[in-house]
Amino acid sequence: VVKAEGAGVGVGINPDIRKTEEKVVDSVVVSELSKPLTPYCRCWRSGTFPLCDGSHVKHNKATGDNVGPLLLKK
Ligand code: FES
Repeated sequence: VVKAEGAGVGVGINPDIRKTEEKVVDSVVVSELSKPLTPYCRCWRSGTFPLCDGSHVKHNKATGDNVGPLLLKK
């Protein structure tokens, strides 16, 4: 494994979601969404990843971050 040099080395965005996978990839067929508006997590803290469960609110309050979900519309 080759590690990058510089700031941020060793700092990952994903704290614990599917860490046994080399890369976490999800795909969605938008026309098959069950709801007209479906929120997808972008903060990597959701207990229902890849769907948003509102955990970004706690993360933002704790860190001062401003992340929120991606909203897919059917
Ligand atoms: Fe991650 Fe909402 S829980 S964006």
